[in-house]
Amino acid sequence: MRFGFFAEHIEKTEYGEKMKAIVCEAFGPVDDLRVKDVADPVAKPGHVVVDVQAAGVNFPDGLLVQGLYQMQPDFPFIPGNEVAGIVCEVGEGVSHVKEGQRVIALSNLGGYAEKVAVKASHVMPLPDPIHVNEGAALVTAHATAHHALKQRAKLQPGETLVVTGAAGGTGLAAVQIGKTMGANVIAVCSTEEKLALAKEYGADVLINYKDKDLKETLKEVTGGKGADVIYECVGGDTFHACSRSMAWEGRLLVVGFAGGEIPKFPVNLALVKGYSVMGVFWGSFTQHDPKGFAENMQELLTWYVQGKVKVVVDEALPLEQATKAMTKVMNREVKGKMVITP
Ligand SMILES: NC(=O)c1ccc[n+]([C@@H]2O[C@H](COP(=O)([O-])OP(=O)(O)OC[C@H]3O[C@@H](n4cnc5c(N)ncnc54)[C@H](OP(=O)(O)O)[C@@H]3O)[C@@H](O)[C@H]2O)c1
Repeated sequence: MRFGFFAEHIEKTEYGEKMKAIVCEAFGPVDDLRVKDVADPVAKPGHVVVDVQAAGVNFPDGLLVQGLYQMQPDFPFIPGNEVAGIVCEVGEGVSHVKEGQRVIALSNLGGYAEKVAVKASHVMPLPDPIHVNEGAALVTAHATAHHALKQRAKLQPGETLVVTGAAGGTGLAAVQIGKTMGANVIAVCSTEEKLALAKEYGADVLINYKDKDLKETLKEVTGGKGADVIYECVGGDTFHACSRSMAWEGRLLVVGFAGGEIPKFPVNLALVKGYSVMGVFWGSFTQHDPKGFAENMQELLTWYVQGKVKVVVDEALPLEQATKAMTKVMNREVKGKMVITP
């Protein structure tokens, strides 16, 4: 999939007001990215321009600029798919938000900048108690976990939920949302420090998969039954162990491959245990079901205000240090989420 709309506004730089943004001009290492002056975006009909106060950093951002993600935008483009800030311009036909209002938005691209234009349907008021850094980081990782557990797995109270990469952005969100939905949550991480964080946010059982055989340990902690639902975002050997640890009628959620290897799957495993392998692509869900996306976000914000879910911000860095933030995510060094504050 190629997108051209950011190329259009960057080319007009010399004619418009200027803003600072991280611009990707060719696929390459994260360190090649630079802050540039580009034209301010304008609010076309049905769009809103947000003065970005915080942009969430997600694992796919690093893949995107290297040309390793399933979506490949036209050059030049600005990465960053989730933001929080203040509405500074409202396009024709937009009535649910006003200039000066605090919002969160799913920008798809363009978030690593001082301003971004977003489809109005993807902009939501940000309730007062929520800090912008947390609001920005709430959109993608939490919403992916929410969609996966609600619409895909249809997680039920009392079920066993295993989360891999459980101290990462979307993993830690899955731990909290799984608890909120009444599951017994088993967190799988690579260090004791990460497991302690997963425990603090609700995990009932902790497994360090660097120290223990994951398949054998999952068998042991589920009393031989296996897991009802596994939220799998690491891939490779971790996926293989999970695919051999499912309960009858279980749901194995394919969320991501942070370890780098996309696993091959012997389908007889699903046949023998009567379980389902379910793909999760939250970005596509927001396009296919905008109403479901808006309802999910409302529920998530309500849970947030009620204190049932939280965003753990590992570090907030200025726009000039965006590459540092992205590298920290790619290097497996983040607990919770990184945020950029333009
Ligand atoms: N399907 C969707 O709609 C969707 C949406 C958002 C994200 N994702 C995907 O979900 C995955 C996780 O995203 P995230 O934003 O939560 O990332 P993150 O914050 O970086 O967390 C990823 C976790 O994966 C584990 N991991 C194992 N091997 C790794 C490696 N070689 N490099 C980095 N991490 C490694 C790490 O936990 P341990 O150290 O504990 O192993 C890390 O905490 C990514 O593959 C991302 O593309 C998918």
